[in-house]
Amino acid sequence: MRTETPPIVRLADYRPSDYLIDRVDLDVRLHPTETRITATLALRPNPLGEAGAPLVLDGDDLTLLAVALDGQPTAPGALEATPRGLTLHQPPQRPFVLSLETQVNPSANTKLMGLYRSNGVYCTQCEADGFRRITYFLDRPDVLAVYTTRIEADREEAPVLLGNGNPVEAGEAGPGRHYAVWHDPYPKPAYLFALVGGRLGRISSRFTTMEGREVEIAVHVEPGKEHRAPYALDAVARAMAWDERVFGRPYDLDVFNVVAVSDFNMGAMENKGLNIFNDKYVLASPDTATDTDYANIEAIIAHEYFHNWSGNRVTCRDWFQLCLKEGLTVFRDQEFSSDERSRPVHRIAEVRTLRARQFPEDAGPLAHPVRPQAYREINNFYTATVYEKGAEIVRMLRTLLGPERFRAGMDLYFSRCDGTAATVEDFLAAFAEASGRDLAAFARWYAQAGTPTVSVAGRYDPHQCTYTLDFHQSLPAIATEASGGGAPQPLVIPISLGLVAREGGALAARSERVRDGVFVLQEESDRLVFTEVASEPVPSLFRGFSAPVKVAHSLDTAQCLTLLAHDSDPFNRWQAAQNLALDILTTRARGGAPLAAEAGPGGAALAQALGGFLDAEALKDPAFAALVLAIAGDQEVAQEIGANVDPDAIHRARWTLRAHLGRALQPRLLALREALAAPAGQPFSPDAASAGQRALRNAALDLIAAADPELGTRLAEAQFEEADNMTDRLAALAVLTLLPGEGRERALAAFDETYRGEPLVLDKWFALQAMIPEPGTVARVRALMRHEGYSAANPNRVRALIGSFSLNNPTQFHREDGAGYELLAETVLDLDSRNPQVAARLLTAFNTWRMMEPGRRARAEARLRMIAASPGLSPDVSDIANRSLA
Ligand code: PHE
Ligand code: ZN
Repeated sequence: MRTETPPIVRLADYRPSDYLIDRVDLDVRLHPTETRITATLALRPNPLGEAGAPLVLDGDDLTLLAVALDGQPTAPGALEATPRGLTLHQPPQRPFVLSLETQVNPSANTKLMGLYRSNGVYCTQCEADGFRRITYFLDRPDVLAVYTTRIEADREEAPVLLGNGNPVEAGEAGPGRHYAVWHDPYPKPAYLFALVGGRLGRISSRFTTMEGREVEIAVHVEPGKEHRAPYALDAVARAMAWDERVFGRPYDLDVFNVVAVSDFNMGAMENKGLNIFNDKYVLASPDTATDTDYANIEAIIAHEYFHNWSGNRVTCRDWFQLCLKEGLTVFRDQEFSSDERSRPVHRIAEVRTLRARQFPEDAGPLAHPVRPQAYREINNFYTATVYEKGAEIVRMLRTLLGPERFRAGMDLYFSRCDGTAATVEDFLAAFAEASGRDLAAFARWYAQAGTPTVSVAGRYDPHQCTYTLDFHQSLPAIATEASGGGAPQPLVIPISLGLVAREGGALAARSERVRDGVFVLQEESDRLVFTEVASEPVPSLFRGFSAPVKVAHSLDTAQCLTLLAHDSDPFNRWQAAQNLALDILTTRARGGAPLAAEAGPGGAALAQALGGFLDAEALKDPAFAALVLAIAGDQEVAQEIGANVDPDAIHRARWTLRAHLGRALQPRLLALREALAAPAGQPFSPDAASAGQRALRNAALDLIAAADPELGTRLAEAQFEEADNMTDRLAALAVLTLLPGEGRERALAAFDETYRGEPLVLDKWFALQAMIPEPGTVARVRALMRHEGYSAANPNRVRALIGSFSLNNPTQFHREDGAGYELLAETVLDLDSRNPQVAARLLTAFNTWRMMEPGRRARAEARLRMIAASPGLSPDVSDIANRSLA
């Protein structure tokens, strides 16, 4: 293990590879500890590279057993091989064949990169640079090859053998052994390679593409769990149909395989024709999965499937272009979920994630542009910024161009770049050409880090009947390694807007600069004038959250109430409720927020408005109503406050407001719980409408319990007992865990008892306890780390317990005495030697340390310094620690 800071890689230094690999033939003999791989690589000099340069192949932790050049042994000194690389000093300046035999130990692979075993199943993970842990290779995304893979294994141990592409051959391979050959006709970079071997249960279905291709879709899971796979299988078919309908993109192989494994560093991986998933995002049954789990499965199944075009058919030239596949594919999966479910509800969920994860990242020391300028460890750049903000950029492009020109641009991009490794420039060029627009200024969204703030001031002139909006955008100047620095330039910001009459209804108004409801702000400051405005309006700005910015609004309470009651844009109705709550919370938290019975000024008005809203809307759209009731979370309030944050004060302010709302709305909330109860005997269905009803019932329970713990406990205990599905049972348990006492411990023990054998369910139990906002939680988490269901080797367990604690328990992670920081630091250092990627990701929980009040800030900094100075750090953890301190 290296201890030095990893070297920096810069976008500006990109050079094409000196050699290309056209074909790869692999022969993999699977063995628990001594797997042997023969790789036959058809190479040639790249006309765009440097003639005569040495051939330098990447390697990581490899043992080289044999090598041949064009079938002959290499001359002594012609070649140098270490575990980390192989250099051929004077490669032929014509096409040639290099054969390599390597050996790896999948059972000892705890990094879960390259070839490893999960519950005895052999599987691979190659993005971003795991293929070099299988064989020596030009492990970079702009080297595209056609792969043929022969996999051989013990039939007993691995009856199922899967590879990329289509199956071409299978048979016996000596006593007890068998093999399968897979061929993938589409050239691909090494990061999309995958194989699987193991004992797996399987369910399948068929899909006929718009081109008439018959595709067999299969989902493979741990034997005995097949009954939890149908939802994922169905989601694949729906995703295939949707991509044809909405983007005109058909599937291109005869089989599509999904495999669920229990040990996985991320959510899932889009390997060509063989998507490998964290089983958390495949397995679902009513008694083990919540509505959120179902929604996540649908979204991630779709995401990985959509990569087949946005990522695989068109891939990335280099890892700086990661957003090219990830931002675009997140946008595509968001659109899919919006079409399959409720568009406004989904949009609100997207924005909540963006604000809770991406905004803090963009405001902290790990801030980077959607396309970073430099990195030291690419695995640390699979971030909310690249994914979520990357998706927002694509969404803005559609808003700016309109749906037709956007679709034309996508078509041009796919057809022109098919089979190539592309750049953000290629992507934008397709839209510029298809629309005739100049997108040079728009491109700044990819290059500038930080969340812009748009401030708006409105003025009504009753004599002229005009309404004037003055806009100003301000951009933080961010000078991190990844952002390259330089003075920020104005961004092109699409603002979807409308004017709402005080008493409700849209106000007719004219402005030449508003097209299809969109005004484009592209200067630092600009003025928009509406004429023929009959009465003073309330502006509804950034409808549907049309740009990833902070809005410094000057709306008063009355105006927010108008929008909440009357805006035709559901997102802004929700936003109005959020703003009302945020104003109350930030004011109180800044003042130290003593625990008081009343929520302060504004609380009564908010309660009354929410009451009116519930009466008018709750039963029409329960999912939406549940979101309106869920006031902004602790982290969002902290972001709003921005500096000298005291998480205890925020927590008290939130608790007080929730209690106030619960008290004021209690009769309504109880009535809603009755009205929305599922009729006895009605079987569980995960569809969006049913999920919405459960969401509102449970949001009501949460507020009732905040106001009246005794009543809350009674209702929650009954629901916990009687629930016929995990959504309701877990929601009840969540309410109980927030109320100290016997009832909580009883319910937790009962849950443990029931679900001990179900790791994914137990994860929910770990997470709830890790989020208890009480001083006993650090000790509780430490005790849970010794629970028999916990394992530091499994990323899902670690994320459920330690990740939930550090990301979703602000009062205890940021404990004044530093005990929360200490717990995280210990876990990160312990994990680092085993799984650096997961360790580094956990460590990012420190990214808000600079905005804490001075005492906590000092303790967090001391912990970070201690981590950064620890001997033997992985490049992953060292990179996060150093950037967090920079
Ligand atoms: N490419 C995967 C996705 O977003 C994420 C991933 C990255 C998985 C790196 C594993 C390793 O779909
Ligand atoms: Zn992805």
